[in-house]
Amino acid sequence: MKALVLAGGSGTRLRPLTHTTAKQLVPVGNKPILYYVLEGIADAGVTDVGIIVGETAKEIRAAVGDGSRFGISVTYIPQHQPLGLAHAVRVARDWLGDDDFVMYLGDNFLFGGISAQLEEFRTRRPAAQIMLTQVPNPSSFGVVTLDATGRVVALEEKPEFPKSDLALVGVYFFSAAVHAAVDAIRPSARGELEITDALQWLLEQGLDVTSSTVNGFWKDTGNATDMLEANRSVLDGITPHCAGTVDEESELVGRVVVEDGAVITASRIVGPVVIGRGTRVEGSYIGPFTSVAENCRVVDSEIEYSIVLAGAAIDGVGRIEASLIGRQAEVTPTPRTPQAHRLILGDHSKVQIRS
Ligand code: G1P
Repeated sequence: MKALVLAGGSGTRLRPLTHTTAKQLVPVGNKPILYYVLEGIADAGVTDVGIIVGETAKEIRAAVGDGSRFGISVTYIPQHQPLGLAHAVRVARDWLGDDDFVMYLGDNFLFGGISAQLEEFRTRRPAAQIMLTQVPNPSSFGVVTLDATGRVVALEEKPEFPKSDLALVGVYFFSAAVHAAVDAIRPSARGELEITDALQWLLEQGLDVTSSTVNGFWKDTGNATDMLEANRSVLDGITPHCAGTVDEESELVGRVVVEDGAVITASRIVGPVVIGRGTRVEGSYIGPFTSVAENCRVVDSEIEYSIVLAGAAIDGVGRIEASLIGRQAEVTPTPRTPQAHRLILGDHSKVQIRS
């Protein structure tokens, strides 16, 4: 059994963060999503891991290395153009050989790991096994139709008129039968070789595609709202711990993690919250479900239900909610009248300001 992790793609829906960071490396609970993926694979006992990399290859390699710290051995497989998930399987053909494999999309956040599903796949021995979950917006995903007995009968990629509300989760178990499927299909309307079409092709050949349902939390963290939700779910499970310095004027309420070298002064922090290494919080309120990464500065401000990336500074700006603040970003008040908003925003930024 091998694992094929997809960490290419350009992350257009997370721009501008993904202008400087691979989407799989954006942190939730101060840890890159990709690390949760690799930990889940290692926990399931799979150690031979291929990572498909694209434009952001250098960054992914720097973050993951040879995989030894996850207890896995990593082979990097370049995909020169993002031509779809089934294309990635084609690119990895030689490395995969005829082995069974789990394909895991590196931006999918799945709580509870994949051990149970892998065991099911090993026992049932279908051509492929997929994971499903109910979603309110099936048109944004691969959509699966089951018959009355729960058998998979059809799959469609992002249909305009979905026949069910069961979305394909980005974790797939394959036997070597998938290689004939990815060779047989043609590019979709969006110009990609869709793994959904490859699965549909397997069904049409009369092969068995089984499914299991995801019970725990799952998010495709392709956009900011989903990132914040994934962050919420990680922080929900943290154990409080303080390795930094908290002065007497400050109050930590509930589950708060203060990492090494962080300094909290005259502030109130209501967990669940993580404050990263070397970050300074002064005269501020940090509210539930906020992750502040390393070496940030939060001064005379309030922030809640947000993710702040490394090196960002938030100073004297009142209240911030449901926000994603990029690396080294600066949020400060207008120094003098007129009290206008002065903005230097990266391409594709999204800002909501009081009108
Ligand atoms: C991909 C798949 C889709 C699946 C989704 C899960 O979509 O094409 O079938 O439901 O991952 O995250 P994409 O993220 O490429 O839009």
